[in-house]
Amino acid sequence: MLISVDLSKAYRLLNHGPTVLVSTQHGTQRNVMAAAWNMPLDFEPPKIAIVIDKNTYSRELIEASGSFAINVPCRAQAEMVVKVGSRTGRELIGKTPDNKFASFDIPTFAAEKIAAPLVEGCVAWLECKVISEPHIQNTYDLFLGEVVAAYADERVFSNGRWHFEGHDDLRTIHHVAGGGFFAIGEAFTIKA
Ligand SMILES: Cc1cc2nc3c(=O)[nH]c(=O)nc-3n(C[C@H](O)[C@H](O)[C@H](O)COP(=O)(O)O)c2cc1C
Repeated sequence: MLISVDLSKAYRLLNHGPTVLVSTQHGTQRNVMAAAWNMPLDFEPPKIAIVIDKNTYSRELIEASGSFAINVPCRAQAEMVVKVGSRTGRELIGKTPDNKFASFDIPTFAAEKIAAPLVEGCVAWLECKVISEPHIQNTYDLFLGEVVAAYADERVFSNGRWHFEGHDDLRTIHHVAGGGFFAIGEAFTIKA
């Protein structure tokens, strides 16, 4: 039995890739937001694509710095992901604290190749440099990034594979809509 899906909800059929945190820094300004619309784009050099809305403060910092980090958060961080995805860092400028990391008590550590801080407690991190494509940035809010460094928590990712068994709190989270998430589920392998 097929049901027709309203076109306004069609994105939800694809929306359960991992929701990520995008962290940014330009000069002394730093920020973090949630982003569900992201995907890998190429192997070598590795590239990713991500939608960064025009109204976000993150976009301003990405365009100014030419770089950003993708942090892959886990089940234990879901509440924080929704918080940083529901408030703009722009409203904190000139206040104390002046950024979402301090405001929401989000610990960070330094990236190697870019200025943006990386979020502690995530399970993977990708440092990205913007591949400038003004047309798709302006028309579709779509940013391409070349991945210049990547790390993962070896408890759940090693030898190029995710393995979440025994680590429910570290499972990646997958937003569909309206605060509804899935935590990544059962793994299985098919031999070709
Ligand atoms: C679960 C979740 C997923 C989101 N996905 C995206 C996304 O893919 N692209 C985007 O531009 N905004 C997305 N948002 C909204 C931004 O995170 C939100 O606008 C944020 O407040 C921007 O912060 P900033 O202005 O400090 O950069 C998402 C929000 C949530 C809660």
